[in-house]
Amino acid sequence: MSKTAILEIDGNKYEFPVIVGSENEVAIDIEKLRAATGAITLDPGYKNSGSCKSDITFLDGEQGILRYRGYAIEDLAEKANFLEVSYLVIFGELPTAAQLEKFENDIRKYTLVNEEMKNIIDGFPKTAHPMGVLSSLTSALTAFNPKVVNVENEEEMYTAVCKTMGKFLVLATWTFRKTSGFPLNYYDNTKGYVENFLRLMFELPTGPYNVNPVIVDALDKLFILHADHEQNCSTSTVRMVGSSHAGLFASISAGVSALWGPLHGGANQAVLEMLEEIQKDGGDAEKYLAKAKDKNDPFRLMGFGHRVYKNFDPRAKIIKKAADEVLATLGVNDPILNIAKQLEESALQDEYFKSRNLYPNVDFYSGIIYRALGIPTDMFTVLFAIGRLPGWIAQWKEMRVNKEPIGRPRQVYTGYALRSFKPMNER
Ligand code: CMC
Repeated sequence: MSKTAILEIDGNKYEFPVIVGSENEVAIDIEKLRAATGAITLDPGYKNSGSCKSDITFLDGEQGILRYRGYAIEDLAEKANFLEVSYLVIFGELPTAAQLEKFENDIRKYTLVNEEMKNIIDGFPKTAHPMGVLSSLTSALTAFNPKVVNVENEEEMYTAVCKTMGKFLVLATWTFRKTSGFPLNYYDNTKGYVENFLRLMFELPTGPYNVNPVIVDALDKLFILHADHEQNCSTSTVRMVGSSHAGLFASISAGVSALWGPLHGGANQAVLEMLEEIQKDGGDAEKYLAKAKDKNDPFRLMGFGHRVYKNFDPRAKIIKKAADEVLATLGVNDPILNIAKQLEESALQDEYFKSRNLYPNVDFYSGIIYRALGIPTDMFTVLFAIGRLPGWIAQWKEMRVNKEPIGRPRQVYTGYALRSFKPMNER
């Protein structure tokens, strides 16, 4: 029997359907709320509002569960590679060997970026943050690929996916080559996607670049862990922008901007900067813990807390283990790590953090591991974006294929009632 929810306003009762998801999550369907009652709901930060139904990612923040298309993140991180997971997230099923090979080859067809893009890159100062440059370059792709994708046509959509996966990776690394002053590199179609990331970043025309397979494996895993996270800030942004029928590149460009913020993906850079600051200030982790708890101090412990995880972030568990392994294999001995460990241990025992369910999140460890892998700090969030790209594409595609309406929230107006206009000499 289907459930309903009853709402009473001014003595009048209204009944609304209750929707139950495939993992038994319960939602009150208020689509007809305003038409029936004249009222709207108010939910700043959308803490209680579902914006869509989605088949892509399941997340249980209380139990620390994350699954893409029904597969546990732990299994995917252990047993699959990033392109395999991208295919799964975007198209809904794990690829066969032939499908995966085709996907990889089809992405390779689109790894050349129009040479005129270099003029745009030249226009940025060297000091520009890579995320700002990446957002602009992704948006600029529209100018070079103006054809609007017909989302109903599977072949066109597939090509758009491959194009986005190919070009975005190259542009992401070009943002670093620009800041470092090195010549821009080209994708090597004889090599894998993640290996190409490293070559695009670090290979110089002056000599061979030996790719370390330990680093390729670690990055592959990190990209998988970031591939999707249901309706987070950047993904909701991609869906929102796309809901106006803006193109895929324009929508993803907006997602990059949303991800950049330090409360979202930008936290991985902020964590490292915080650890460096603590180190410069004498390495006293307790002092910063106290600052984070002080309500008169705006300082927050970066890399702690999560909107939906009120238990350990399952991605953080996997990264923490990977970080320990990679650091041991590479023989990295970094004093910053000791500060991170101290902070983590103290926070996990602290009443303030315990009572608020504030655990280390994915960004706490990813920054540490990126640093050990030799990735420059201001590229950390760009790596998050490369990992999140399949999720953004999948969510954009789902939203368009499901013919979702334009995203247009309402508001409760709290400004002045009608006022009469005052001429300039009376103000
Ligand atoms: N340090 C100190 N106090 C915190 C922190 C923190 N990092 N995070 C939350 N709190 C406190 C907050 O002050 C509040 O306390 P009180 O109830 O006394 O007012 C309580 O915990 C609840 O916080 P909130 O801001 O209402 O929680 P939220 O769900 O709106 O925010 C968050 C989630 C991730 C924005 C927040 O935890 C935060 O700012 N964390 C630091 C930034 C960070 O690491 N972001 C990366 C998130 S994971 C990657 C991703 O998916 O984007």
